Amino acid sequence: MCGLVMHNATFWLSLVTSKCLLMKAEVMGSKSGRREKPKDAFEDTDGLYDPECENSGAFKAKQCNGTTCWCVNTAGVRRTDKHDTDLKCNQLVRTTWIIIEMKHAERDTPLNAESLRKFFNETITSRYLLKGQYITNVLYEKPYITIDLKQNSLEKSPEDVDIADVAYYFEKDVKGQSIFHNSVGLNVSIDNEPVKLEKTVVYYVDEIAPEFSMKSLTPGLIAVIVVIVIAIVTAIVVLVLTRRRKGKYVKAEVKEMNEMHRGLNA
Ligand SMILES: *[C@@H]1O[C@H](CO)[C@@H](O)[C@H](O)[C@H]1NC(C)=O
Ligand SMILES: *[C@@H]1O[C@H](CO)[C@@H](O)[C@H](O)[C@H]1NC(C)=O
Ligand SMILES: *[C@@H]1O[C@H](CO)[C@@H](O)[C@H](O)[C@H]1NC(C)=O
Repeated sequence: MCGLVMHNATFWLSLVTSKCLLMKAEVMGSKSGRREKPKDAFEDTDGLYDPECENSGAFKAKQCNGTTCWCVNTAGVRRTDKHDTDLKCNQLVRTTWIIIEMKHAERDTPLNAESLRKFFNETITSRYLLKGQYITNVLYEKPYITIDLKQNSLEKSPEDVDIADVAYYFEKDVKGQSIFHNSVGLNVSIDNEPVKLEKTVVYYVDEIAPEFSMKSLTPGLIAVIVVIVIAIVTAIVVLVLTRRRKGKYVKAEVKEMNEMHRGLNA
């Protein structure tokens, strides 16, 4: 029994790294590695909803769930705050750039970036029939793999598949929830070695910037607003206090004057 505990303790010690080193690694990881996202890129934070579709199969610009409505882009992703049913969505805004960011499981040796680029380029063109010209970049920054799909309305001909549809199939495939019949998903294999993906995040960049009210406020700006609000509140409080004090002086003066008058009249 004792031996078992001892054994476990040594086992744990060999696994556990110092907090200092872990924090250092975290900071390094957030600094380097992932490529920075464009300013107006946003994620789908809502997930699945029951959408209204046009006869063509496209999303209707305005989507609602009961009395809550919002506007979506061509990928069906919400690009405004949620409003009531009065909301107007003048047009369906095109998603022209989709960034798919994947993280592979921990491994000692990095993957070959060129093999990786070839694998994803060939898979996306053959499996989802997207023309290679719309795959503008496959970037490898261990452990992150970033794929850029770009397609604007001028480039896209009616028979071209849309990058939004490709990204949806792809995301489901790498998450093992394939929409294709008879498929359990996509086996990512680089240089004949299977690669396990841990996390996939999709970012959307629209032709017109999204209209989220608070999202564009950076923490710095919020801090400045808080400071200004505190300054204004303080100014008002000081003003009210000094007014009150002045009011008292005035009253006291009037009282004194009255007493003086009385004194004179007597
Ligand atoms: C739609 O609204 C219902 C009721 O308010 C809620 O339970 C449901 O989660 C909503 N669905 C989505 C996708 O937001
Ligand atoms: C993918 O392949 C196509 C040719 O099929 C090429 O035009 C395109 O530049 C390639 N993209 C990348 C990122 O390798
Ligand atoms: C992926 O691998 C699993 C088992 O490892 C296999 O059952 C499945 O058929 C493979 N899928 C494809 C598309 O090759």
